[in-house]
Amino acid sequence: MRRWDSPEPLRWGFVNHDLKRTAHAEFCDWATTYDAHWLNHFLFEPSHKMIVKELAAVPPGRILDVGCGTGELAKRLALRGWQVIGLDLCEPMLHRARFKLNGYTGSVRLTVADSEHVPFADKTFDVVTCANSFHHYPNQEAVVRELHRVLKPGGQFFLLDGWPDQFIGRIVYDLIITQVEGGQVWHRESHDVKVMFKDAGFDRVGQRRTYSLFPILLTRGAVPQ
Ligand SMILES: C[S@@+](CC[C@H](N)C(=O)[O-])C[C@H]1O[C@@H](n2cnc3c(N)ncnc32)[C@H](O)[C@@H]1O
Repeated sequence: MRRWDSPEPLRWGFVNHDLKRTAHAEFCDWATTYDAHWLNHFLFEPSHKMIVKELAAVPPGRILDVGCGTGELAKRLALRGWQVIGLDLCEPMLHRARFKLNGYTGSVRLTVADSEHVPFADKTFDVVTCANSFHHYPNQEAVVRELHRVLKPGGQFFLLDGWPDQFIGRIVYDLIITQVEGGQVWHRESHDVKVMFKDAGFDRVGQRRTYSLFPILLTRGAVPQ
């Protein structure tokens, strides 16, 4: 199994550097223009709609949105009755979110934190979501375990990220998105994500994919009752 801290070059000659610092710098710079970026149209917005659709059958409760960015998904969830905690590594992204969420403050709280060390007690949340953020995490397996920890028994984790397994996915994520994001990203193949969920203790692990221009992979798993 390859890990970020491995000295071995990853696919496309990618070599690990200090990924958290890079992600932090990237999104602190990007925060003010992020919502106007073309990726919102092709990737972020469709991915939020996909998660909201998945959650339509789940009774609203307490939800943690990891890597929440400027709060678009948090806003959609709050409007549907969820009590949302948005967590992000980058304060300027949350600053934008606070500005946009003015008026939803009763149902959305925002906190600066690292997905690997979530500042909440065990079994706090009914649902955890993570959209378009996972490819920035140097220790992805550890994050999946950490998010399992904060879910209640029966709680569900919805992880959404690029789907790089097939030809279009490789072009889009290994070339285009890697360029847009400055080379420091790692989109995992569907099999690897499934294994991570199962190893962390998730049950009923399932995946959905979109075959669009920007193929999306949604993986869900539940904490055993
Ligand atoms: C591409 S943006 C996605 C934002 C939002 N979820 C969306 O779909 O629009 C990635 C976000 O992940 C955050 N991020 C990156 N590494 C993180 C980490 N280790 N812990 C928490 N957030 C992180 C970034 O600051 C950024 O806001």
